[in-house]
Amino acid sequence: MINKFWVLQGTVILLFQPAEEAGNGAKRMIGDGALEDVEAIFAVHVSHEHPTAIIGSRPGPLLAGCGFFRAVISGRKGLAGDPHNSVDPILAASAAVISLQGIVSRESNPLDSQVVSVTSFNGGNNLNMIPDTVVIGGTFRAFSNASFYNLLQRIQEVVVEQASVFRCSTTVDFFEKDSTIYPPTVNDDHMYEHVKKVATDLLGPTNFRVVPPMMGAEDFSFYTEIVPAAFYYIGVRNETLGSIHTGHSPYFMIDEDVLPIGAAVHASIAERYLNERG
Ligand SMILES: *[C@@H]1O[C@H](CO)[C@@H](O)[C@H](O)[C@H]1NC(C)=O
Ligand SMILES: *[C@@H]1O[C@H](CO)[C@@H](O)[C@H](O)[C@H]1NC(C)=O
Repeated sequence: MINKFWVLQGTVILLFQPAEEAGNGAKRMIGDGALEDVEAIFAVHVSHEHPTAIIGSRPGPLLAGCGFFRAVISGRKGLAGDPHNSVDPILAASAAVISLQGIVSRESNPLDSQVVSVTSFNGGNNLNMIPDTVVIGGTFRAFSNASFYNLLQRIQEVVVEQASVFRCSTTVDFFEKDSTIYPPTVNDDHMYEHVKKVATDLLGPTNFRVVPPMMGAEDFSFYTEIVPAAFYYIGVRNETLGSIHTGHSPYFMIDEDVLPIGAAVHASIAERYLNERG
């Protein structure tokens, strides 16, 4: 009699990682050795956009690289009625905001999606005074490392040089030391195919969807830079139950029927990876 059983060669490591939104979690896990001797990595994320238990992913870039910037534009305070005796950072910052919108619209390939959004503009609190400084800030997104770092460089140049047109000086901070820069999340073609195959075998082809890339970011991206990776979604949307809100909404909830399905898919991805890698 022959006993038939799978011989699993290898070890499955489960990563329980804190501080995803703070931007430091994955980087710190890597620094602490979580990926040592790891040859592939998989992550699943709930999605309110897809019905319960639909699996979605795509090969290549899935989520954008994300950075933040804050620029301090400095002029010289003065009475608003005597503008010639001051250096006006409000006008300089306003020009910088307008010029920043020319980077994506005029310099980026329209087929290579990118975003620059100014989300904050602060300066002055006296209606009769031109202030010393204005602080503007925002975020930028791109799907390739080259496009991302090109945006970073151009934001720096455009703000500094546009403010200098109006005689202001500028410092721009990209918070690089705080690790708030997330690289793009890029799925490895083979790992994506593996997820697709396992999900399709378990749930049927109609329960797998190729999803479009999204401008959001994930710190799983740090892992994708180091080992072949696949990130996929599992739907939790059920209108009857009301699980229709994003993960960032106070109304967020999931259709709990997804739990055994998600656990089975994720476990099978690991098990079959070990069995089939040859
Ligand atoms: C991304 O580009 C920056 C700037 O060119 C470079 O320093 C960095 O090593 C690149 N990262 C990757 C993962 O290619
Ligand atoms: C939504 O949840 C209800 C209650 O559990 C269930 O009967 C229904 O089949 C679910 N719908 C979908 C699309 O999963």
